[in-house]
Amino acid sequence: GVKIVTIGGGSSYTPELMEGFIKRYDELPIREIWLVDIEAGKEKLEIVGTMAQRMWDASPYDVKIHMTLDRREALKDADFVTTQFRVGLLNARVKDERIPFSYGMLGQETNGAGGMFKAFRTIPIILQIVEDMKELCPNAWLVNFTNPSGMVTEAVVRYGKWDRVMGLCNVPVMATMTEPKALGVEKEDLIYKFAGLNHFHWHKVADDKGNDVTYKVIDAMFDKDAGLPKNIHDIPFYREQLEQMGMIPCGYHRYYYREEEMLEHGLEEFNGVGTRAQQVKETEAELFELYKDPNLDHKPEQLQKRGGAYYSDAACETIAAIYANKDTQIVVSTKNNGAVPDLPADCVVEVTAYVGAQGARNVAFGELPTAEKGWLQVMKAMELLTIEAAVTGDYGTALQAFTINPLIRSGETAIKIMNELFIAHKKHLPQF
Ligand code: NAD
Ligand code: G6P
Ligand code: MN
Repeated sequence: GVKIVTIGGGSSYTPELMEGFIKRYDELPIREIWLVDIEAGKEKLEIVGTMAQRMWDASPYDVKIHMTLDRREALKDADFVTTQFRVGLLNARVKDERIPFSYGMLGQETNGAGGMFKAFRTIPIILQIVEDMKELCPNAWLVNFTNPSGMVTEAVVRYGKWDRVMGLCNVPVMATMTEPKALGVEKEDLIYKFAGLNHFHWHKVADDKGNDVTYKVIDAMFDKDAGLPKNIHDIPFYREQLEQMGMIPCGYHRYYYREEEMLEHGLEEFNGVGTRAQQVKETEAELFELYKDPNLDHKPEQLQKRGGAYYSDAACETIAAIYANKDTQIVVSTKNNGAVPDLPADCVVEVTAYVGAQGARNVAFGELPTAEKGWLQVMKAMELLTIEAAVTGDYGTALQAFTINPLIRSGETAIKIMNELFIAHKKHLPQF
């Protein structure tokens, strides 16, 4: 049987993951699941871990959930390690969002200054996890969900020198779920090709005869809540722009293509109901109240309020595909290897790939149009600088990353935001 280890097991997403594993038990016969957390998440771990055990007990399968604060104990002989931890929990995200907004710049979990500081906090931990894996489960696969998922995956490959990793996101899953419905066809009737970076990819769609139907999808989806995750405010794209690029941008592109309006909306929330992290804290409290109910043995509806809905489809499909060498088409963050020729072969991209026992075999996307190629190269440079700063703790490198980030206006205000974030997150940034 398969041994799964989930780091950040106290996450409210754990029931989503359990549901995915229960659904796929026949192709992925799990023996045991270890949920790992830290002292700060102990109470959450206990509540959600007990709930996870109830889900398995209500299923026909005999799977034991182990809960531990000892990562190394858990990792011993693991087959798959999934990561869904958040360094500093949601309170750290509140700071990532509120500090930039308080200076009139965008505060967001994976974009702008906040996303970069989340990377600074997370990368040292993921590299420790990789070191533990080299020693305790050298044949295991690391299936990363921790944001910023693309940068975390790139750090694992580039600095951890660990290739058995897949970075995941639910955004492509949501697109392939909603778009066929909008066209009145089934998912199997369409051919998808994604390329770009995590939270910065585009995709094209063809019908089962191979004819490009991207424009049809744009038509059918335009002005609708286009499979957008719950955390992103829906400001529509400019139609002429989409027609020019001939591709469908991911939901996060509106932070770049409609920066002014997204900032305006973010500032409204900042001054009103609170930023997304503050809203999510309420949802999380609600979820944990439900999880405490000893009669609850399935994933509650309320979990759909989180932006990461359906993430288990990506995670469990990936694991099942590797385990059973299924060659399933999945969108993953993985080493480019030429699929996106506008970026170096050795960097991590998010692309459609066939996933099997050997990992991801990427589908070549080919060169991107002029504008998207430019964006991509700037964003990858920002990512590489952010990761380098996270590893070296060098202030100048962090400043370079800040300066090249399109969502940060350079100058004295940027310096203030950066310095304040360094102070706010001091205890999670020993490298600086
Ligand atoms: P959360 O705040 O509930 O954190 C999850 C758990 O991680 C907590 O119980 C916390 O105690 C634990 N943790 C913190 N540091 C740890 C460490 N060093 N080792 C082990 N555990 C640790 O977070 P959440 O809102 O459930 O989100 C979890 C993560 O998943 C975040 O990083 C989030 O950005 C990411 N996420 C990714 C996607 C995606 O598309 N890739 C979607 C949703 C969420
Ligand atoms: C989307 C993204 C995730 C992100 C999440 C935030 O689904 O793909 O990477 O973590 O939204 O959702 P939340 O409910 O935490 O704001
Ligand atoms: Mn994501």
